[in-house]
Amino acid sequence: MIQMKVTQLKREAEGILGIELQAADGAMLVPFEPGAHIDVHLPDGLARQYSLCNDAVETDRYRLGVSLSTTSLGGSRYLHTSLREGDSLTISEPRSLFGLSPAAASHRFIAGGIGITPILSMIRWCVRHSVPWHLHYCVRSRTCAAYLDELRAFGDNVHVHANDEIAGRIPDIQTLISDVKAGEHVYCCGPDGLMDAVLHHGRQCGIPRESLHFERFTASPPRIADNSERAFTVVLAKQGLRCVVSPNESILESLERQGVCPPFSCREGLCRSCEVEVLSGEVEHRDYVLSEDEQMANRSLMICVSRAKSDELVIDL
Ligand code: FES
Repeated sequence: MIQMKVTQLKREAEGILGIELQAADGAMLVPFEPGAHIDVHLPDGLARQYSLCNDAVETDRYRLGVSLSTTSLGGSRYLHTSLREGDSLTISEPRSLFGLSPAAASHRFIAGGIGITPILSMIRWCVRHSVPWHLHYCVRSRTCAAYLDELRAFGDNVHVHANDEIAGRIPDIQTLISDVKAGEHVYCCGPDGLMDAVLHHGRQCGIPRESLHFERFTASPPRIADNSERAFTVVLAKQGLRCVVSPNESILESLERQGVCPPFSCREGLCRSCEVEVLSGEVEHRDYVLSEDEQMANRSLMICVSRAKSDELVIDL
């Protein structure tokens, strides 16, 4: 955990708050990978994940962009309404789940709304290293498009698609990626509908799955427990403990019920902080962070959301 001080609050666009943080003791910060995020620990006891949007070479500050969610349970609402310059915030060290692929010859970014934040730090890296890139920035209107001033400096590499400038329509995703070249990788961060469209059209355009990269900020609504959900046993190999996970609880919740407290953060399958190695048994993956190959390999699972296909799952705890 790192104690930070809020050194600047800035309205970046309608409904988007820019937050600049520096170490409370003035120390240098841990460098981060472009596209990385941090956990911000809030007074409600939960942690929220926010991407870093500044230049990854900066070690004196972290910059975040926070969109005010209409369904906020306290995270973005607290930051927008209660946070003040000079306040303290506790954060985690940066983690990268959405990095630039070293295998890519060039990069195409598709950002939806606040999804611009991780992509902005990736763009800064590309500019610094003279790697070819393009951005399609999809927003409802330019008034709610954060960082437009900063992006303007990148000239024709940036294409803004504002719905209210095309008769309220959303951009045609197929057009945005139909000319992706061999060796070019596509990165998308934004609402689920945008990411689903990029995945769908990307595959239709013949873009290899490993060249399509996604970062989710929110999970789909939790599945309602129905008759298809079933109980299974999870065995903690190191602790020699067996727990029955009932149909209406997660593995994490069942362990907490037994007094076991493994690390976690988002509890939604988004952040990878609860990842545990699988020693035997078959996993039904429900997270958003493991790649298809990693899920197929069955070597680890996110215990906050994933379940077992087998009757028993032995995990490395
Ligand atoms: S706690 Fe975030 S993935 Fe499980």
